[in-house]
Amino acid sequence: MTGVEGTGGIVVFGAGGRAGRAVTAEARRRGYRVTAVVRDPGRYPDLGAEDVTVVRGDVTDPGSVAGASGEAVAGAAGGAVAAVHAVSPFSGPEQGFDSLDPEFFVKAADALLGGLAAAGVGRLVAIGLGANLLGADGRPLMDDPAMLPPEIRPFALAHTAGLRRLCEAEDTTIDWVMLTPAAQLEHGGPRTGRYRFGGESLPAGAASLSYADLAVAVVDEIGTPTRHRRRVSVFIPAAWPA
Ligand SMILES: NC(=O)c1ccc[n+]([C@@H]2O[C@H](COP(=O)([O-])OP(=O)(O)OC[C@H]3O[C@@H](n4cnc5c(N)ncnc54)[C@H](OP(=O)(O)O)[C@@H]3O)[C@@H](O)[C@H]2O)c1
Repeated sequence: MTGVEGTGGIVVFGAGGRAGRAVTAEARRRGYRVTAVVRDPGRYPDLGAEDVTVVRGDVTDPGSVAGASGEAVAGAAGGAVAAVHAVSPFSGPEQGFDSLDPEFFVKAADALLGGLAAAGVGRLVAIGLGANLLGADGRPLMDDPAMLPPEIRPFALAHTAGLRRLCEAEDTTIDWVMLTPAAQLEHGGPRTGRYRFGGESLPAGAASLSYADLAVAVVDEIGTPTRHRRRVSVFIPAAWPA
C-alpha cells in the first residue's frame, strides 16, 4: 500500500472467523474496500455489504488465492490491494486435532506468496500464534507444558512451520509481516486503538489483547507499513506509561 489510509482494498482470508471479522470491521471503518474470502459463502450470509464483496477461496490453494486476490485488485479500480491471512484450521479445543494437517500453514504460506504475486498484491499481514514466541530462557513457549498444554502442541508446530516458510522465502516479492498476539485474544473485547509491537520474545507483563485492537494493528500495517519480512509480537502492556 501507499501509506494513504482508506485507498484501495484489502483481501481478507478467513474473513468469517474472529480475527477476520475484526479486520473486516476495522478496514471498513477506515474506508477500505474489503474482499472477504471464505470457503463457503453460503455459510456467511451476514458478511456482504456495499463495501464488502464475499468470494469463495481456499488459502492453501495458490490458484484460489490468485483468483480471490485478482477480484480484489479489479474491485480496487487502480488502488493498491493488501492481503490479510487470518485463517486457522483449528477454532477451539472442542474441535480436536484428528484432522489437522501439519503442513496446513506451510501450504498457506506457499499459496499466499505465489497467489498474491500472481495477482499483483504486494503486502501481506499474517496473524501468528503466541506459543512460538520465545520465553525468558530463549526457548519457544510451546516447549514448556506449563505455557502450552501438550495436546495443543501439534497446532503450534504447524503454525511455526508456516512462519519458518515465510522467513525462508528469500526470493519472494511479497512484503509480508506476521503479527503475533503475545497473550490471549479476547473475543468481544473493546477497541481501545492502542497496542505495542515487540520482537521475537514474550514481552513481560503483556495483558490480553482484544481482536478489535489486533485488527487496528493489522490495518495500521497496511496503511503505513513499519515492519517488513519478519515476525513481531503485538501486545497491550499491563500498564501504559503515564
Ligand atoms: N494468542 C494467540 O496467539 C492467538 C489466539 C487466537 C488465534 N490466534 C491466531 O489468529 C489467527 C485467526 O484465528 P481466529 O481466532 O480468528 O480463528 P477462527 O475464528 O477459528 O477463524 C478461522 C477461519 O479460518 C477459515 N478457514 C479454515 N480453513 C480455511 C482455508 N483452507 N481457507 C480459507 N479459510 C479457511 C475458517 O472458515 P471456514 O471454516 O468457514 O472456511 C474460519 O472462519 C490464527 O492464525 C490463530 O492461530 C492466535
